[in-house]
Amino acid sequence: MSIVICFNNKDPKPWQNALASKLKGVNIEIYPEVEEPEKVTFSLCWKPDKNALSKFSNLKVVQSVGASVEHIIQSQNLSPDCILTRIIDHQLSQDMFEYILAGIMSHLKKLPEYQLDEKQKPWDQKPYKRIDNTRIGILGLGKIGTHVAVKLEQLGFKVKAWSKSEKSVKNILCLHGHDGLSNVLYNTDILINILPLTAETENILNIRHLEQLNKNGYLINVGRGEHLVDSDLLILLNNNHLSGALLDVFRTEPLPIEHPFWQHDKIRITPHIAAITNVDTASDIVVTNYQNLLKGKELINIVSLKKGY
Ligand code: GLV
Repeated sequence: MSIVICFNNKDPKPWQNALASKLKGVNIEIYPEVEEPEKVTFSLCWKPDKNALSKFSNLKVVQSVGASVEHIIQSQNLSPDCILTRIIDHQLSQDMFEYILAGIMSHLKKLPEYQLDEKQKPWDQKPYKRIDNTRIGILGLGKIGTHVAVKLEQLGFKVKAWSKSEKSVKNILCLHGHDGLSNVLYNTDILINILPLTAETENILNIRHLEQLNKNGYLINVGRGEHLVDSDLLILLNNNHLSGALLDVFRTEPLPIEHPFWQHDKIRITPHIAAITNVDTASDIVVTNYQNLLKGKELINIVSLKKGY
């Protein structure tokens, strides 16, 4: 029984080292140089090459090293009895909250505009908003979305959140379904997208939905690039319906240098760093799952292949 690491855009070495120190004697190989593919029963994946896992005929578990799994579902032809699991880690949720809070506060206090002003030095005092008159809408109430919603509410923001199925979180107005979506967008100043990417959520950040936000609304996208219709965002920024956007995820990553988002004064870009899996804490989850597989126990953080999250 061995483990294979199949990564793109991520260094496999820290994971190999962390697992080797916690799982003494287990063979951990790095794709594509795998000497005995038939011995592989457990794979650790981040954006694996198309059909990379089909080489491993005895594969039982596919573990994403992130909170998301669409990068695996879309690229592999997983058999229905293969177990797909993901990382649910408090550190990941907290990192996401800290990133979002930084984005919100920088927007409310207009820090990006002052940074642009530094070129002309105009000493131009601008009106700013406060936490208690800022209405937040959150799309996605999974583990991360719930953590973010609760933390923002505790700081004094007015928070509404939307999820596919009905949920209930103390002090948060929880909405779901078609009508719930319009309700979460209505009278919202800042929309935060933390949804998983599925066929139903793709392109959800489109003009029809985003124009329901308050005038001068702001978008933070930490879900996936495919949630956002890029050209619709540009229209709403250029006609001043939206005042700006903070984007951490893109349809193509790295974001191509010719993409108009790079040039836009109202768009802040970060290179998919809102919440990076912490190898130290997340490797414990992988170890537990590997050991559970050996012992025939149920794995943790299993994803429904049908639902996609
Ligand atoms: C990051 O994008 C993740 O899926 O954890």
